[in-house]
Amino acid sequence: MANLNVTVRYSGIDFPGHLHTLQSLQYAQEFKFHETDTVIVTYPKSGTTWMQEILTIIYSDGNVLPAKTIPNWIRAPWIEHYYCKDALMNKPDHRILTTHLPYRFLAKPLKQSNAKVIYVARNPKDIVVSFYHFHKMANFLPDPGTFGEFLEKFKTGEVNYGSWFEHIKEWQKHSDEYNSFFITYEDLVKDLRKSILRLCNFLEHPLLPEAVDTTVWHCTFANMKKNKMINYTLIPNEILDHQKGEFMRKGMVGNWKEHFTQEQKQDFEKTFQEKMSGLNIVLVSTL
Ligand code: A3P
Repeated sequence: MANLNVTVRYSGIDFPGHLHTLQSLQYAQEFKFHETDTVIVTYPKSGTTWMQEILTIIYSDGNVLPAKTIPNWIRAPWIEHYYCKDALMNKPDHRILTTHLPYRFLAKPLKQSNAKVIYVARNPKDIVVSFYHFHKMANFLPDPGTFGEFLEKFKTGEVNYGSWFEHIKEWQKHSDEYNSFFITYEDLVKDLRKSILRLCNFLEHPLLPEAVDTTVWHCTFANMKKNKMINYTLIPNEILDHQKGEFMRKGMVGNWKEHFTQEQKQDFEKTFQEKMSGLNIVLVSTL
């Protein structure tokens, strides 16, 4: 399914038709979670792929073979992608699932389940920069225009996958309605080992010290960048133009400083204060 120029509008949000259909979005809304499922929830560019890799290795007790032989979208499929049903066929328990959907889409199935939900947040200025570069290489996303133009759309939520502000607010506002764990991209960058140990604790899946070492080592930016099963180089040029950029791009905190003008920074921070007031979350390097 290429559908590179198709956009699916569902519940007021645009989704790339390359990966979504009305049916696949409906399927997500009625998803049957298992008690042993772990769900990674992110707004795009927040560290989704990183968490997919970390959980894969934790659940294989430090064995890196699955991470090195199975593409991430098969081992941790997005609930809302059209191929999800097939990818989950015959999958045993302890499934790793991924979603970029807003909370309201999954509220009903999650409330009826005890699935473990990991929300990965990232400071939005780094997200918008990462998303902008991704738009330039992803032929299934609209042309982003200049960075300034894209930033304006990001602020108003007129981008694919909807508003970042609404996404994080909705998921956090309802976090007592599902089995939730909150972590940031910045936590992972700051102390990957500590983050992995916190995750093992939440997942009730302790690892031997050597397996923790392997997970930390394999999930460094440099090592993930080399892993074809996670760095998206398996995707043909027609879909992801590898001449225009790399999925594993910078992997750092604060890259926004090289993209925002002083005026854009002040303006974004004003929007942030307006939209996020009342949300009790500290996002490192947001300001
Ligand atoms: P940058 O574009 O800022 O480099 P997602 O998986 O949600 O689409 O997020 C992609 C972002 O996560 C990219 O950010 C990518 O480089 C970064 N990333 C992926 N794996 C990483 C790792 N091991 N360490 C640091 N950043 C990582």
